[in-house]
Amino acid sequence: MKAIIYFTSTKKHISEKVANQYEGDVFKLEDVKSRPKNFLLQLLIYGYITVRGKEINYKPLTLDIDQYDHIVLISPIWAGKITPFMQSFIKDYKIKNKDLSLIVTCGSENEDYLNEFRSLIDDSNTIIEERQYKASDLD
Ligand SMILES: Cc1cc2nc3c(=O)[nH]c(=O)nc-3n(C[C@H](O)[C@H](O)[C@H](O)COP(=O)(O)O)c2cc1C
Repeated sequence: MKAIIYFTSTKKHISEKVANQYEGDVFKLEDVKSRPKNFLLQLLIYGYITVRGKEINYKPLTLDIDQYDHIVLISPIWAGKITPFMQSFIKDYKIKNKDLSLIVTCGSENEDYLNEFRSLIDDSNTIIEERQYKASDLD
């Protein structure tokens, strides 16, 4: 069984478009606070949160991770990193012994993005897929 976990914030919902390419149970990470949809304001607010490494909460998920053998993690890149929401999810769920797909969506491609994502993952997991999507390819 496959679980797809994603976060999205821009009006274009690029990461959601990627999530919709997978078949399985889909879980959306959502900010507990409502934040601006304006891209520039997001850059300011979310960029600040990311650069400062601030803890950020997402709405609780009805996800029982033990039910799934394959987890697909999809995150936009903010300020050169996967979003703090996905970082919090990885910390909270302590994913172990799963097949993983690691997917980033970004403005411009950079191999460091997936390197950083991988570094957050427990070694007991098997990474079976890594992908990087440029937002302009999915507009
Ligand atoms: C706050 C913020 C910071 C961003 N920082 C970067 C960045 O450092 N590098 C990059 O390539 N794209 C960056 N982007 C662009 C997003 O990663 C890209 O548009 C992504 O596909 C958005 O996904 P979404 O539509 O699912 O929210 C940033 C976007 C936002 C809103």
